Amino acid sequence: MALTDANPSATPVSSTPLGGVAGWPTGLTGLGYGGDYNPEQWPQATRLEDVEMMIEAGVNIVSVAIFAWATLEPDEGQYEFGWLDEMMDRLHAAGIRVALATATASPPPWLTARHPEILPQLADGTVLGQGGRQSYAVTHPVFRQYALTMATVMAERYKDHPALALWHVDNEIGCHVPRDYSDAAASAFRSWLAERYGSIDALNEAWGTAFWSQRYSAFEDILPPRTAPTYANPTQQLDFDRFSSRALLGYYQDLRDTLRAITPDVPITTNFMASTGTKGMDYFDWAAELDVISNDHYTGADNDDRHIELAFSADLTRGIGGGRPWILMEHSTSAVNWQPRNRTKAPGEMLRNSLAHVARGADSVMFFQWRQSAAGAEKFHSAMVPHAGRDSDVWANTVALGQALRDLAPVQGSTVRSRVAMVFDYEAWWASELDSHPTQELRYLDQAQALYKQLWLRGVSTDVVHPGADLSGYDLVIVPTLYLVSDADAANVAAVAERGGTVLVTYFSGIVTPEDHVRLGGYPGAFRDLLGVRTEEFYTLQATETVTVSGGGPLAGTYSADLWTEKTHLTGAQAVAVHDDGALAGLPAVTRNAVGSGSAWYSATRFEEAGTAALVEAVLADAGVTGEIEAPAGVEVVRRHGADGASFLFVLNHTDAEASVKASGLDLLTGSTATGDLTIAPGAVAVIQES
Ligand code: GLA
Repeated sequence: MALTDANPSATPVSSTPLGGVAGWPTGLTGLGYGGDYNPEQWPQATRLEDVEMMIEAGVNIVSVAIFAWATLEPDEGQYEFGWLDEMMDRLHAAGIRVALATATASPPPWLTARHPEILPQLADGTVLGQGGRQSYAVTHPVFRQYALTMATVMAERYKDHPALALWHVDNEIGCHVPRDYSDAAASAFRSWLAERYGSIDALNEAWGTAFWSQRYSAFEDILPPRTAPTYANPTQQLDFDRFSSRALLGYYQDLRDTLRAITPDVPITTNFMASTGTKGMDYFDWAAELDVISNDHYTGADNDDRHIELAFSADLTRGIGGGRPWILMEHSTSAVNWQPRNRTKAPGEMLRNSLAHVARGADSVMFFQWRQSAAGAEKFHSAMVPHAGRDSDVWANTVALGQALRDLAPVQGSTVRSRVAMVFDYEAWWASELDSHPTQELRYLDQAQALYKQLWLRGVSTDVVHPGADLSGYDLVIVPTLYLVSDADAANVAAVAERGGTVLVTYFSGIVTPEDHVRLGGYPGAFRDLLGVRTEEFYTLQATETVTVSGGGPLAGTYSADLWTEKTHLTGAQAVAVHDDGALAGLPAVTRNAVGSGSAWYSATRFEEAGTAALVEAVLADAGVTGEIEAPAGVEVVRRHGADGASFLFVLNHTDAEASVKASGLDLLTGSTATGDLTIAPGAVAVIQES
């Protein structure tokens, strides 16, 4: 898919021609391996040892200077580049490619001290001060100018350096301050609204300001949704989410355009956080602006399904990039230090985590960070070179992973093919979790991941894509709780069933327009015709309440559901499961509507795990989709396909027991050949180049 096609439904953003820029770091061959490298934290002797150890580990790319602004420019206009010049030369001499940062990710103290007006603010007016990182308001023209100057200085200095392979713009843009409520943001928000709506009357209409006397007479009177006596206008909140994502993207675009003008042939990226908990940025909207997609991922210590959440994140990253290979820019060799209780990785877990990303399309595996810091806020965060030095499991794992990635060089450029898509939309995520809703407990991501887990457990390869994406190639499309949907995206989903595919939509979907106005006449609004049902009222459940639902046919059995139920009537569909008890006893909970040669299923309730499993099983059967190959529980199986007809079967054993699957071909990791039966040791990985 062409770079500019990544998000067909997104409003076009100003885009710079990408001519001449291949979508991969220049000069990087084989799979990439490395991490954030912060030599400014270390004396010369350590820096010399670093390069030796990188060679030993097989590192071929590092991200440099991400947090180096204060070291590079210790006072305004005074630059100290000698150490970085030397480092770039040394890395080049060692054959290591450099993803060079703009060094803008944390403004130096002299800047925030001299210009406190660039600091961002919370909704309650709290100013986020210096002393941490990312203490800037991207919309403040003074900060923007300083950042552009720094990017210009970096680009001019290193434009001809042979180590330069990729630009790494800022770092995790929006990570700490996804929403800034400062005066600078307020002013930019007003301009964005004026452009979006054209007139104040159009804004009043969209925001429904006849309610609670909120009618505006001028754009000048509008503020971000700062802390107010009660709920802020929901459309104002939603537009502020849209604006904030675009403002952060605009900051990236400005830096990118600056770099592009000086180094037109060097590809440009910024690292996304497409994973649990990060909902601030609409990465489907951002994707077309990057030459190569890169993502950071950290597993949650308290999540027993963290390897499944990892797979979801990787599939989402691949979907954001339209299927192209992507860079895993950061993950961790072992424990992180920013969760309430952090977890040291078990033997084999780091390799499995890394190769699970590769299985799902990552062609580069990188870490935060190369050498574990001795000081500062991340000194207890694991790294490729741990505090303990060479005599450690972590270093042995680092070296072993480097070898594994060299062995896997043939998979580079191959892609994942899926018959199932799950649609995922950041705007729907924002809107579905706004306040003033039937329940405050609904979590969009949880619903998506609960369904995804069942696909993962069955070894079904799934693309996580925008609802406006090309869905024509999928046999099954799953639509988790798509509260907000445009007419065009709803039609795009309906077309799947009309041409013979299977669609599953879950509760509280299709409810509102992009303006957050309810689609009248009964829920699920935009999907009513497709699903052949009409819901007249929601019945949300209390924390202690559950209901039971019994199904027939493919959903035979009795299942428990919680949080959400709906009084749903059939208007063409057939009931597959009905409520056994509660206020809705006898009424449908799951329905199936025959549409053309396809079908459209609706789940009007939130099932607990067994019901979710049965539901996913039923729609897979309806669509005729099975897992990649049969595999025991806890064994992950993913296939990548090469353009030349080659295929690579990744088998990751997440269990404590030996496992067997049917596979034939060369195990690229061990060099042994599987002829029909493949046995994988507990916790181990095999990658079979299939014959
Ligand atoms: C983020 C940042 C890194 C580092 C890691 C720690 O991903 O980009 O600088 O703070 O988190 O996990």
